[in-house]
Amino acid sequence: MDDDGDRRSKVQRLYDACDAVFSPGKKGGLPTLAQIRWLRGILDGMEAADVGIDAGAGGEEGEMRSSSSSSDDEASPMAAARRLLSTRGFTRITYVHIHECDDFSMGVFCFPAGATLPLHDHPHMVVLSKLLYGSMRVSSYDWVTAPRSRSGPRKGGLAKVVAVDELREAPCRASVLFPRSGGNIHTLTAATPCALLDVLAPPYAEDLGRPSTFSDMPVPSLSGFAVLEQAELPEDFRVAGAPYVGPELVVSSKKGPELVVDMDLYD
Ligand SMILES: [Fe+2]
Repeated sequence: MDDDGDRRSKVQRLYDACDAVFSPGKKGGLPTLAQIRWLRGILDGMEAADVGIDAGAGGEEGEMRSSSSSSDDEASPMAAARRLLSTRGFTRITYVHIHECDDFSMGVFCFPAGATLPLHDHPHMVVLSKLLYGSMRVSSYDWVTAPRSRSGPRKGGLAKVVAVDELREAPCRASVLFPRSGGNIHTLTAATPCALLDVLAPPYAEDLGRPSTFSDMPVPSLSGFAVLEQAELPEDFRVAGAPYVGPELVVSSKKGPELVVDMDLYD
């Protein structure tokens, strides 16, 4: 429970806030800066255990463990939150799916040291990412012009460099990228084992071509820019899946007026 008397789990607060911001009819279009600050504030207060992940324990891949031996909480709603997924034994990038609806998704990418998510885009999407533990290197671009098909079905174009091998180490603030700014096309490499809690709005949709992966080629005469061209994923690239064991989410089926979210509390 939080100090302000809010009995919701942190992940529930995140879900409720995402639902308020991203569900259709609530806003439409891009979220406002106040909404982004609100979501970012919630993410900044979250740790791995808040989404059922053990940041520090050893153990085998996918092993569950309990962070508490007390039994008197077993009947409490928070007891489920004490089951933690150990990620220490993961040997490839593993996605822990928390929630997905038409408007947004929530999930955690767990990286073993050295693993890389290839350069990929987030077309028409807003993405908030909180590094829960560990450290990663980020290189990113934004399109200078909207990507066009260059040869056959592949798309590409000129992009501006936003970050080059930038080191992010937890604890750090959540990052935000927008459709045309913030480093919409990025590649992530784990410097140490790490985990990234992602909110994507709208979610990825492979049938709509989201995401695409790219190769990048610097432009020698134009420092700070590169030509990106759509590329196939490396043949051996796979993302594994692991179960979400964090606090149970109460998911609204387009809720009525009973839940009032006061954004001013978080600004
Ligand atoms: Fe991404």
